[in-house]
Amino acid sequence: MKQIISIICALGIAVGAYAQETNRLVIKADDGKLTINKNIYGHFSEHLSRCIYEGIWVGENSSIPNTRGIRNDVVAALKKIKIPVLRWPGGCFADEYHWKDGIGPREKRPAMINTHWGGVVENNHFGTHEFMDLVEQLGTDAYICGNVGSGTVQEMMEWVEYLTSDADSPMANLRRQNGQDKAWKVKYFGVGNESWGCGGNMTPEYYAGEYRRYNTFVKNYDRNNPVYRIACGSNGNDTNWTTVLMKNVGRRMNGLSLHYYTLPTGNWRNKGSATKFDEAQWHSTLRRSLEMDDLVARHSAIMDSADPDKRVGMIVDEWGTWYDVEPGTNPGFLYQQNTLRDALVAGITLNIFNQHCDRVKMANIAQTINVLQAMILTDKEKMILTPTFHVFEMFTPHHDATLLPTKITCADYTFDSNKIPSVNVSASKDKTGKVHVTLCNLNPNSSVTLTTELQGAKVSKITGRVLTAETIQAHNTFDKPEVVKPTNFTDFKASGNGFSVNLPAKSVVVLAVEQ
Ligand code: AHR
Repeated sequence: MKQIISIICALGIAVGAYAQETNRLVIKADDGKLTINKNIYGHFSEHLSRCIYEGIWVGENSSIPNTRGIRNDVVAALKKIKIPVLRWPGGCFADEYHWKDGIGPREKRPAMINTHWGGVVENNHFGTHEFMDLVEQLGTDAYICGNVGSGTVQEMMEWVEYLTSDADSPMANLRRQNGQDKAWKVKYFGVGNESWGCGGNMTPEYYAGEYRRYNTFVKNYDRNNPVYRIACGSNGNDTNWTTVLMKNVGRRMNGLSLHYYTLPTGNWRNKGSATKFDEAQWHSTLRRSLEMDDLVARHSAIMDSADPDKRVGMIVDEWGTWYDVEPGTNPGFLYQQNTLRDALVAGITLNIFNQHCDRVKMANIAQTINVLQAMILTDKEKMILTPTFHVFEMFTPHHDATLLPTKITCADYTFDSNKIPSVNVSASKDKTGKVHVTLCNLNPNSSVTLTTELQGAKVSKITGRVLTAETIQAHNTFDKPEVVKPTNFTDFKASGNGFSVNLPAKSVVVLAVEQ
């Protein structure tokens, strides 16, 4: 018996030592060449459910504190995550939106039915002027998506003129008449959305032709600030769409989009609940969010062969989790809760985009407020921040920082014989020389000790923050808004040119390393 016990102990030590060795991270602190475009941390707000109305726009006469109709609490919260760019007005809504219905005195604006999203009446009270006011209050860049599906070339051409021309021209004068003297800066313009689906059910060849025609009339009124043109890209795995667009449109576009949503089950008819899930769906959700890496790599390879200089950016302008809607809510409103699992999906996906920053120039999580993987949930005057919000806040040091190459070896997190890596990472160096490392421990059952070498650097000081909770389903509610929030983290040890860190189970950790 004694012998058996000592064999087991020996095995235990051996396995323990092996586990230590398998969890190893090397960061090349002296070898950064690429910049992580801050627009990877971009957002998306559509006329869908309570994203715009209530989430952002409450109107000037609301009892909810606002500035010219836009909620003060929401703007203050979003400023904390330094939103670099905001996409609007859709989504599927963009291809049925007629911008002239959303200008002029609000009481005179015509109403329409939002056929895609819940069949509700859209009163057009939030239009071009209100969106550009929001962008200015947030201090962010505008990314406007034009209507190819049900609009005309003339309509798109006139919108660009209305927005960006300072000439004595009909649309610029109409804008002045509506109270905005100076042209706005609109950096990014999308020519249609999901043109393979809700945006017109087009083939890639047909859309490429349409893109070329519409894009011709998206004029650069401000020669010093030419419009960055984004073509509608592929639905997830459709690499043929990317091939055709790269061939038939090429450098006539500055960016090509890509949409990918994470569904726990992978089945659109029964996606899975946002809060009532077991470890099987925790694992499958994280596994499906890790697929973003392969997806970006495959589309990048196609783009590389047509555009080796990487002049066309990959713009992942819709991504995030998509669950069954909260019970009792309008199925067309896409309202879902947001748990610690969403925090892990956000951390994993942002780390993947950082790692692919040679090609990924922008990404926009869907969506900012009350829709899908939201940063903020509101209930009339009440507002809460989601676990996803906190991850975006923790990752802000990566904005426009230099990506540091990393190499990680770690144990697998296995469930039902499906294996995924237990740790996901990215690292960057900011302008002051400080290194930031963002780490996700996907395993909900055990912590991971990671030995890290910082090549070409000496570690003088480390500080850290962690986002975790007691359960995988933990989330914030209007009654308990701070169940999931970041706290200080100290479970690391510096040693010369590296450190070891003990990542708690199911956590997102950010470390700031000074040299
Ligand atoms: O984000 C919700 C919807 O998902 C968008 O409107 C559409 O582009 C996509 O299918």
